[in-house]
Amino acid sequence: MARLLGYPVYLRDSHVKLGYPGMLDVATSQREPGYARFVLDDTPSGKRSPWAKGGQVRVACRAGSAAPLDRPRGRGVSPTWHGGPALGMLRPIGGMVGELPDYAVENRRHWDATADRWVDAGERGWAAHEPIWGAWGVPDNQIPLLPDDLAGKDVIELGCGTGYVSAWAARRGARRVVGVDNSARQLQTARRLAGEHGIELTLHHGIAEDVPEPDDTFDVAVSEYGAVLWAEPIAFLTEARRLLRDGGRLSFLTSHPLAVLTAPLDGSIPSGTQLLRPWFGSYRYDWRDAVDEPGGIEFVPTAGQWFALAHQTGFRIDDYREIQVPESADDRRNFAVTGAWAKQWPAEHAFWLTACQPAGGSTPSDSQRHPERRHARVIGSLD
Ligand SMILES: C[S@@+](CC[C@H](N)C(=O)[O-])C[C@H]1O[C@@H](n2cnc3c(N)ncnc32)[C@H](O)[C@@H]1O
Repeated sequence: MARLLGYPVYLRDSHVKLGYPGMLDVATSQREPGYARFVLDDTPSGKRSPWAKGGQVRVACRAGSAAPLDRPRGRGVSPTWHGGPALGMLRPIGGMVGELPDYAVENRRHWDATADRWVDAGERGWAAHEPIWGAWGVPDNQIPLLPDDLAGKDVIELGCGTGYVSAWAARRGARRVVGVDNSARQLQTARRLAGEHGIELTLHHGIAEDVPEPDDTFDVAVSEYGAVLWAEPIAFLTEARRLLRDGGRLSFLTSHPLAVLTAPLDGSIPSGTQLLRPWFGSYRYDWRDAVDEPGGIEFVPTAGQWFALAHQTGFRIDDYREIQVPESADDRRNFAVTGAWAKQWPAEHAFWLTACQPAGGSTPSDSQRHPERRHARVIGSLD
């Protein structure tokens, strides 16, 4: 049975269109949303999409649409999704294990197993007088990942871990703060600290690629080394765009590819000063067999790939920074790189995006045009 890891799917009668390169038409014997078995048709160009080679569809679809749908509509979907070069490089690899993509199963195991090690840092983050960002604690005035004034805004943190970024969102006046995290153990810490600090958070246990909140619910989404590093990037951006209102802001901070491309091939740490892995084509890193600190599967696209993906999933890029660790920083190792390393090369980078229309088209979302239609999800197996 062929399986395909997929992204947004739009269901019309017995046809499903996948909202990513190749625009596969998938016929399904089941018209209702939910779990569906799909039979793969040819693409409009008559060729089988290379994306169909592995994985299982984990998709969002719109149910019950009787309206003609001559081309896919909705967030993150436009004609320009027919295979941009950056997207072509980012092929989903792997499949689904039950409800979760394979990488999310491993990352859940990894984060549940290591959650105890994050409690101290989480407690410090919650108790701090101002937010600091990234592995090196860059001050907020240099990397303002979260807007200063969040009065009346609805905020979501994607991969909230111990929740201290969410706490800052609440302290800056947000009307509602939601955190989603794949690890129940991390959320235990977040819940305890929220209680101790008297801050109200809505915490969901699940993946940021599939958040149980309606379309157009948030003004701000943020991810600091959260799902942005551990979720498949197209799925991450597509879901963030769905959750954000037009004009909403997404900011994230994550690993820079240089830190990973210089990592020894046996997964030992720290990273060195030679490029040991290819720049092109690499983006998913499986650390399960790593010699040091094994576990977890990360996604580290280049900035160029992030820009292309952001553009194609309906974001405008407002700002981008490669983070240099200050001279005053300790030279000792912090995660994969030493301070001396991170003073010379960026180990992490940050992005600020605004939700707009996807590249190449202004396609109002189906729910905007037809508010009576509810968003639904299906899982499809390809024969
Ligand atoms: C470095 S930690 C959290 C970062 C947060 N700023 C903190 O320090 O508490 C990364 C978190 O991302 C979560 N995570 C990993 N993959 C995820 C996914 N696909 N969706 C949501 N959370 C995810 C992990 O469970 C973990 O708690």
